[in-house]
Amino acid sequence: MLNQRAVVAGVGSYLPEKVMTNDDISKIVDTTSEWIVQRTGIERRHIAADDQNTSDLATIAAKRALDDAGISAQDVDLIIVATSTPDFTFPATAVSVQYNLGNTTGYAFDIQAVCSGFVYAMTIADSFIRAGNASTILVIGAETFSRILDWTDRTTCVLFGDGAGAAVLRAQPVVEDQLEQGILSCHLRSDGSHRQKLYVDGGPSSTQTTGHLRMQGREVFKHAVGMISGVVTDAFAASGTTADDLAWFIPHQANRRIIEASAEKLGIDIDKVVMTVEGHGNTSAASIPLALDVAVKDGRVQRGDLVMLEAMGGGFTWGSVLLRW
Ligand code: ACO
Repeated sequence: MLNQRAVVAGVGSYLPEKVMTNDDISKIVDTTSEWIVQRTGIERRHIAADDQNTSDLATIAAKRALDDAGISAQDVDLIIVATSTPDFTFPATAVSVQYNLGNTTGYAFDIQAVCSGFVYAMTIADSFIRAGNASTILVIGAETFSRILDWTDRTTCVLFGDGAGAAVLRAQPVVEDQLEQGILSCHLRSDGSHRQKLYVDGGPSSTQTTGHLRMQGREVFKHAVGMISGVVTDAFAASGTTADDLAWFIPHQANRRIIEASAEKLGIDIDKVVMTVEGHGNTSAASIPLALDVAVKDGRVQRGDLVMLEAMGGGFTWGSVLLRW
């Protein structure tokens, strides 16, 4: 292991142009905006155009992150795309992004951990950088969940949306006696005994179809807060920090009630929570980088800030990433 850390050098995101409000959804299924807002905090979501694939959303977010970092696509060693809605069964969506960006010298792969995908991808990127296997990594969360929703099922179709977010991670040597910048700790978990509580009922090996998202919402809710709190507490313990040390808590944006309950359980002041779920719904692996991009670009996240990312999703999978901005 080299004595170096993965530092975020730039962020970017993209939401498709088409907006679907709660009122729009109430014309498709038997629901109301009041029910959706009260149960989830979601007010609207973005839907990819017919000719936009996940890789297209990912490419725009990636270009914005590269611009923000002030580097070119050829500077990137590795591209990781976290997605559960790939363009094709194979090849990886990441190689399409690599092609779109014009990167010819690096390598690219997808990872699949549903809503925890971005946290998983950041953890992989951190490990590659610490091990010296890559110096500059593009980590992308990108989804077109609108394509796997059952638009006749009001219990699920109101919750999700499309989008993409990206972060550029670069290796930086650790310098003695200086405030440590970059990723400080990563904690991942999964428990496959819950795999049928949130899943897609199709796939190449089982049904030879794409399938639709199915979810036992109450079961997800029941486990979410405890699992999230567990990995965040693990991050505090590993880094010798507490909730008071955090500048920003940037959770997976699934549901305002889950986010608020998690923050309360962890003793995190609600003013430190970045919440964007109202504007795009649950965009699965894209939601954390979407929220991160908003909070960085509006000036909330400043150099030196301690930032906690966390997510929980299908599998179940869950995890946290603690970093110093
Ligand atoms: N509009 C109106 N009524 C609805 C809707 C809707 N969109 N969906 C369900 N209902 C009805 C149900 O049919 C039920 O009616 P009934 O009492 O006549 O049978 C009633 O509302 C209550 O249903 P519940 O499922 O018990 O509602 P609940 O209060 O649990 O809220 C929700 C549902 C919002 C899905 C909640 O369980 C939840 O937030 N779960 C977490 C799910 C989640 O966030 N998943 C994201 C993926 S995982 C992750 O990212 C963490």
